[in-house]
Amino acid sequence: MKITFTARSPAEPDALVVGAFADRVLSAAAGEIDGQTGGALTRAMSASRFTGASEQFVDVVAPAALKAARVVLAGLGKPGTIDELGVQNLGGSLVAHLNRVGAKRAAVIFDGWSDGGKISAPALAANLAYGARLRSYRFAKYRTKEKPESKPTLAALTVVAPGPRQAQAVFGRLDRVADGVFFTRDLVSEPANVIYPVTLTAQAKTLSGLGVDVEVLTEARMRKLGMNAILGVGQGSSRESRLVVMRWSGAPKRSKEPLLAFVGKGVTFDTGGISIKPAGGMEDMKWDMGGAGAVIGLMKALAGRRAKIDVVGVVGLVENMPSASAQRPGDVVTSMSGQTIEIINTDAEGRLVLADALWYCQSRFKPRFMVDLATLTGAIIVALGKYQAGVFSNDDALADKLVAAGQAVGEPVWRMPLGERYDKDINSDIADVKNVGKNREAGSITAAQFLLRFVNETPWAHLDIAGMAWSKADTGTVPKGGTGFGVRLLDRLIADNYEK
Ligand code: BES
Ligand code: MN
Ligand code: ZN
Repeated sequence: MKITFTARSPAEPDALVVGAFADRVLSAAAGEIDGQTGGALTRAMSASRFTGASEQFVDVVAPAALKAARVVLAGLGKPGTIDELGVQNLGGSLVAHLNRVGAKRAAVIFDGWSDGGKISAPALAANLAYGARLRSYRFAKYRTKEKPESKPTLAALTVVAPGPRQAQAVFGRLDRVADGVFFTRDLVSEPANVIYPVTLTAQAKTLSGLGVDVEVLTEARMRKLGMNAILGVGQGSSRESRLVVMRWSGAPKRSKEPLLAFVGKGVTFDTGGISIKPAGGMEDMKWDMGGAGAVIGLMKALAGRRAKIDVVGVVGLVENMPSASAQRPGDVVTSMSGQTIEIINTDAEGRLVLADALWYCQSRFKPRFMVDLATLTGAIIVALGKYQAGVFSNDDALADKLVAAGQAVGEPVWRMPLGERYDKDINSDIADVKNVGKNREAGSITAAQFLLRFVNETPWAHLDIAGMAWSKADTGTVPKGGTGFGVRLLDRLIADNYEK
């Protein structure tokens, strides 16, 4: 979908989109069209349930006296209330609407939408386009027999707004973030016979084209470093494990700040291993690399928009399979940290991957902070559902920043507790730590406590995104499937707090 900004209406869009505020108050442009069409918009509003509430749409098809095939009236809510997220969602819903009705070229007349609000018209217009682009994502490469009538139609979206150059400039940056989100969605959507540690590594390597330095640790190298926790998870698979280190160095030369670190769980398929999962829904476990996918997409976003900051992304990539060579319940492994781990349940594998990845990251890079992302526990879905991720942290300031960034981009995260009593639940009788807690109690917390044992004094936060990496329903800016959750959140965390 091609997105452009102009100050004047293009000659012949086939869909003309205009706004109406709450209580059916037409915007200036809408009022003009209403006049030209003999009051068709006013009649359409009263003939429908359209009140002008946000994200409502009503169409006037084949209006007399206009070249456009349809006029779409879009609800804006009360004047001055539409904000960044609201307008992103409007852009997203609009794209879905236009594709549903078969529009090919649409123009949105953005006039006075921002009046009385806090955000400038060009910035809001850019965010409308950003939402539109985010929603336009599709993963269709394996559909070979799709009927033309079920394919999306919208090929071009023109945003007619004041300050088109400024809007374009703001959008340019957001568009690079969307590139990162799309990359994550692609990686998460790919099946596990296509994306496994070696091929996911190859995908990460494509970022070197944007100036990201990509370094790959093979199993031999990992073994030398003592990463037996991660290697143990991968040992049942015929696919080799990998650890990938991606570095973006965008900080001004004089900057002496330590870099920021992001660590991702990349289990390219999680069968559970010998503690095998039930068959129903197991296909979902292709997206158990959603944390790694988000870190890779984040690196793409940061490099794409030339972020002025030094960042490292570390992803641990393994496939968790049952086989004759698979790790057994009861096995004890010595992690890179030197701590021994008793494996009680081979399905609690993500924390084993992260244990070595976190330890490696903090000892090698001494980062300013580490944030890990992982589809770590079903228990976080029990606790929070599929509306927000859990955040666990040893640093209140970092946790607060993550919560704020999540609010700002519409990827909410909810602070979860840590504590000594949970920590005790993972003491092992024969090793330093075991990989599960008591029964199923506080499952997402004991998982986070496990990670904390592999973090020293480094400020750290863990995002349990098990409920967020995949969606079964379309929402504003996120079509169903891989969501790319985490990319926008962490891009915003960095932009708002750390970039100079
Ligand atoms: N990858 C799963 C967690 C998960 C579940 C992610 C559902 C997305 C949707 C993780 O590796 C796992 O299996 N966790 C176990 C831990 C248990 C064995 C302590 C779980 O949550 O059941
Ligand atoms: Mn598992
Ligand atoms: Zn898993």
